[in-house]
Amino acid sequence: MTNDFPTYRGNMEYFCLGCEERFDIGELHYTCPRCGGVFLLEDTWFDSLAENPPVYWKSLFDKRAATKTTSLRGIFRFYELMAPILEPQDIVYLGEGNTPVIEASPALSKILGTPMAFKNDGQNPSASFKDRGMACAFSFLKSLVREKNWDSVLTVCASTGDTSAAAAQYAAYVGHPLTSVVILPQGKVTPAQLSQPLGSGAIVLEVPGVFDDCMKVVEHLADNYRVALLNSKNAWRILGQESYAFEVAQWYDWDTYRKAVFVPVGNAGNITAVMSGFLKLQRLGVIPSLPRIFGVQSAHADPVFRFYREPDPAKRAYEPVKVIPSVAQAAMIGNPVSFPRVKYFAEQYEKIGGPGSFQVIQVEEQEIMDAMLLANRHGHISCTQGGECLAGLIRAKEAGLIETSELAILDATAHSLKFSGFQEMYFTNSFPAEYGVTPKPGLVNKPELVITPEEKAALTPEEYTVKAAEKVVARLGLAGKN
Ligand code: F0G
Repeated sequence: MTNDFPTYRGNMEYFCLGCEERFDIGELHYTCPRCGGVFLLEDTWFDSLAENPPVYWKSLFDKRAATKTTSLRGIFRFYELMAPILEPQDIVYLGEGNTPVIEASPALSKILGTPMAFKNDGQNPSASFKDRGMACAFSFLKSLVREKNWDSVLTVCASTGDTSAAAAQYAAYVGHPLTSVVILPQGKVTPAQLSQPLGSGAIVLEVPGVFDDCMKVVEHLADNYRVALLNSKNAWRILGQESYAFEVAQWYDWDTYRKAVFVPVGNAGNITAVMSGFLKLQRLGVIPSLPRIFGVQSAHADPVFRFYREPDPAKRAYEPVKVIPSVAQAAMIGNPVSFPRVKYFAEQYEKIGGPGSFQVIQVEEQEIMDAMLLANRHGHISCTQGGECLAGLIRAKEAGLIETSELAILDATAHSLKFSGFQEMYFTNSFPAEYGVTPKPGLVNKPELVITPEEKAALTPEEYTVKAAEKVVARLGLAGKN
């Protein structure tokens, strides 16, 4: 069912943020062949969309929220704003996008003293926000494969775990002629994350070191060999991830006034996409004002925070950092590939949104763990990166950067289950010293064995049931029914 597929087609080009050269999208480009800079993808006809008034776009996107046309059900509900060159037959839909916005539980709200909601991007198909970008990148790749009649394509990415999970899943779904290869830092992705590309049948290659080491290997491959790169260096990924911003605006009926969006920053693709998305909506008049953006980084991997810590733009200098192990492991990146994109959009953002509309906050490892556990014991499903956002909100409130009349929307970028190992380390007080995390007794929880296997062995099955029940009764102090 594709009869309601949009007729608008844009004129998309790669735009280099280094030398400002433009390139045709008929070729796969990751970095500028002229200067090595990173790309954005731009629809040079975007402003023609403003011939339709904001109300047209709002009602169109709202109507599409109910469509059963799968190609428009996910992130491509916002087709005209993202990649309006794709044909419906190429669009890959695995149920990504439309993730729920969950208000802080009443008790958590009281503790925080400021309105907050999580947008649970861990409820995407591979359990992280990466699916948004992959849906777009794979749809474009599918269109190229069809047009060029390629009979074999190796898709490659470096990853802290979630990009590889998403890339492997989408490649497995699309199938021939794609083969997925993921390159991971050995021992630096969680067991759940590692199980994902393995289960999807990808070729999983590990190298010693951290993500930044893997990224260099993958960049070397992309520069010298015929591979399709799926890291966010691939600008099609950024476009898909803009859907997060569109969904936030839509959820709040296109009213982003007095809203603050918190995003954990690693390779900096996500915060780039979120800013770009809100700027597009603002350009079309779909949102009257920009929500504020707060990037959050752990003190163990904080190059973007360090850059913006200097208030005078003329004195700011970017320097990669050497990362220290972090519980926000998925964002543990010392030299973010998308840093030039952040700079580009942050400048535009502040020009329109005014001072304070874009900020970066630094948090400690301890704060990240405590915040994640606090959220989850109030019914949320935050990963450590979502905990990083909450820690950022608490810091912002303490520093007077956010007012209690402002609603904070926090990106819980992955599902808590992917990162349960860090919870386990907290509960068993087994964090290696370099993390600098000490469990707070009030947040620790452990299973309690009510009856030992030896006791069980000495009892008949009937006696065992009664004995085990008695132990539970004693543990809970249960009163009888009469
Ligand atoms: N949160 C999660 C769960 C992530 O997986 C990542 C990045 C981030 C936050 C940071 O987002 O890189 O766009 O600034 N993970 C990448 C990966 C690097 O390989 O999975 P970013």
